[in-house]
Amino acid sequence: MARNNGAAASQPSRTHLISSTAMLKAKTNGVTRQESNWSQSSPRPSTWLIFLFHFALPMTLLLIVSNVVDDIYGAFTSLVAESTPLVHYDEAVKPPTTFPSISNYEEGSNSVIDQQSKRRSQDNILKQQLNKHDGTNNNNKVKSNNKGTGPQSSPLYKDMETNIIMLRSKYEESRNTPSEILAAIRYADYLKYRDTTIHDGGTYQMDAIKVYSRAIELLQDEYRQKIDNGEEVRLSEGATSSPVVGYSGLNREMFLDYDSKSTEGRLCATYTSLGKVFFMSNMFGRAVQSYDACLSYDPYYLDALTSRAQALLILGKFNEAGTDYKLVLELDTNRLFVDAVTGLSKVLTAKEDAITEGWDYLVNILEQDLPRLKETYENAKLSNNDGRVKHYVDGLKRVHHAMFAYHDVKTKNASAAWEHLLKGNMYKLSTVAPFDAAFEKDRVRRLKQVFTPNFFPKGVGSQTRTPIFIIGFVRSGSTLLERILDSHPLIVGTGEDSVFNGRLDFIRNEIVQASTTGSANDLQIKVKQLADDVVSDMKSRWEVIEDNMHDESEISDKPSKITRPNPTRFADKMLTNYMNVGFIHMLFPNALILHVAREPMDTIFSAFKHDFPPGGLDYTADFAGLAQLYHSYREVMRHWDAVLPGRVTHIRYEDMVTDLPNVAPKIIDAVGVPWDPTVLDFHKKKQAVNTLSTTQVRKGLYSHHFKEWKRYEEYLHPLLDLVGSEVEYDLKTTLPGY
Ligand SMILES: *[C@@H]1O[C@H](CO)[C@@H](O)[C@H](O)[C@H]1NC(C)=O
Repeated sequence: MARNNGAAASQPSRTHLISSTAMLKAKTNGVTRQESNWSQSSPRPSTWLIFLFHFALPMTLLLIVSNVVDDIYGAFTSLVAESTPLVHYDEAVKPPTTFPSISNYEEGSNSVIDQQSKRRSQDNILKQQLNKHDGTNNNNKVKSNNKGTGPQSSPLYKDMETNIIMLRSKYEESRNTPSEILAAIRYADYLKYRDTTIHDGGTYQMDAIKVYSRAIELLQDEYRQKIDNGEEVRLSEGATSSPVVGYSGLNREMFLDYDSKSTEGRLCATYTSLGKVFFMSNMFGRAVQSYDACLSYDPYYLDALTSRAQALLILGKFNEAGTDYKLVLELDTNRLFVDAVTGLSKVLTAKEDAITEGWDYLVNILEQDLPRLKETYENAKLSNNDGRVKHYVDGLKRVHHAMFAYHDVKTKNASAAWEHLLKGNMYKLSTVAPFDAAFEKDRVRRLKQVFTPNFFPKGVGSQTRTPIFIIGFVRSGSTLLERILDSHPLIVGTGEDSVFNGRLDFIRNEIVQASTTGSANDLQIKVKQLADDVVSDMKSRWEVIEDNMHDESEISDKPSKITRPNPTRFADKMLTNYMNVGFIHMLFPNALILHVAREPMDTIFSAFKHDFPPGGLDYTADFAGLAQLYHSYREVMRHWDAVLPGRVTHIRYEDMVTDLPNVAPKIIDAVGVPWDPTVLDFHKKKQAVNTLSTTQVRKGLYSHHFKEWKRYEEYLHPLLDLVGSEVEYDLKTTLPGY
């Protein structure tokens, strides 16, 4: 599909919509005739007119006038609130080579670093293109991204698929030849890259694991052979022209291409990459093993150390994570791995004495880093070096947020904490365009226009009850609910990399196509098939992970697969799905939709102070953006309650926390599986799913506090004003029997 990506085509323009409405009228007769077919299956013509206007018409007219259609198509595609990208994965897989150094020791290395920042900005453009259908990410500086076609129809997505086919065939051709190692690594690297860019449940993760493992096997053979022959397995000192001076051992090979790395360098880098794929697949124990394998060649390999710390943090091994992070901060004086700052502050927040010096250690480092970072940031700004500016902004943001955490949890000095929080958020916002409130409002308006009470055709969709959808505003306690569900032997929490969300655009396009045929039956068959495909993919993803977890006793304390019944429910937690209840209901009219709602200002303040990874949730760092997103959420939830009364089951977060023994059985009842008492001990379960709130959930219910925002109330008045009457939420838990 030829998309016009020019700035002029940014948002659906009014004039285009008007002219296309005229065209719509010209077509109305045909459309109305089609609708008579629908009448037995409930939706009234007017509804389907809107449906066709938004969904089908663009497809039929596409061949006639592509420009106009572009705009209608954009108007409708933005309705699909694609999930927030699963960004905390990005932190894990971010290749270190994309960071320019902040040190003064980098003279003579500019060309390499500049190339790297160029590559990074290309990656960012790609990511923006792919995320452009993400509703909350509509304010990218690249305005043409405001309207979207979704990944599956994006030319870049198609390019990726083409590249995968090309790299796979190269890999296959290379089998049992000397070039197999590099072909395998290139192929696997690309699969990993693809899955960190497109979040659809980890399509290529298992392939990547297989191919990396094959490369490692071959590299180990090579390694043994070289040792036997007395050959070098590591580049000799001085042999590398490392772009950053000041690193030793295998770290000197950090920026080299695989072609130029030594055998050990390749082995270590490949083990690290494999670990990252395990991490993305929620196999944290396996990830640690893989990083360990790399670190057995060089205990100071920074990429593996930082990554291992991150996995250990998720696993609740705070002391080990703290030790790794500390080592990174000591070795990496250039702060190439600036994530370690954030990581260590998370460790200390969870467990103050995870390292012997406690917070003092980190605060000392941060106080030295701040002026240094600020100076290099100002210099980069003066020299208009975008790549560097971004790196320093990220560093400054992380340092300020870590200082906020310190004052928030340790000194309890609200004024100092607030100062750092604001500065951190200011840096974060400095790299994105101002929030576009009108666009956000329009999105909600269009959603309400399409999904009216008469919209939903009867008898369409899959009858399955297998998926459970968890929705809500960010920081509302959805992780807690997911963990509660997941602790039941028959329910699996699939984390945030959602099969359903990754597929939404494709699903919508398919529905559009089916609806243009005009046969109710066709549509019904199509929708059911799409829904069932989602469910079978959820299951097969679980099976693969389960197989891989087999020997992972340390992180999986569920009984082994043989003794344990197969799960019958899969929980899909994609928070921005509150925009997609209409789609969910259409595909899965019987699936449970659980909405977690928490006291408004607790939710809002928590979102404000939380450093979401870059992408969909940038504007929660901004009072106006945050308030508007919250207003949208409440408005949309009211809308669903009005058009689909009782369809969404509401659960108050506060009820879960204070009254779990009574709430949990009702939740399990609503899911439709027998009660199991392990649910009440959900926090004891060792297996973790990587979400932003894992560490808190692990600590159990006692760590949940109410009204934390009150400590910062004096600074929050402008936000309170913007939130207005929505500051009250008299929602009741609507679990049957509660
Ligand atoms: C809190 O921090 C501020 C700096 O933001 C400082 O001026 C003040 O003295 C601190 N208060 C206490 C009680 O330490």
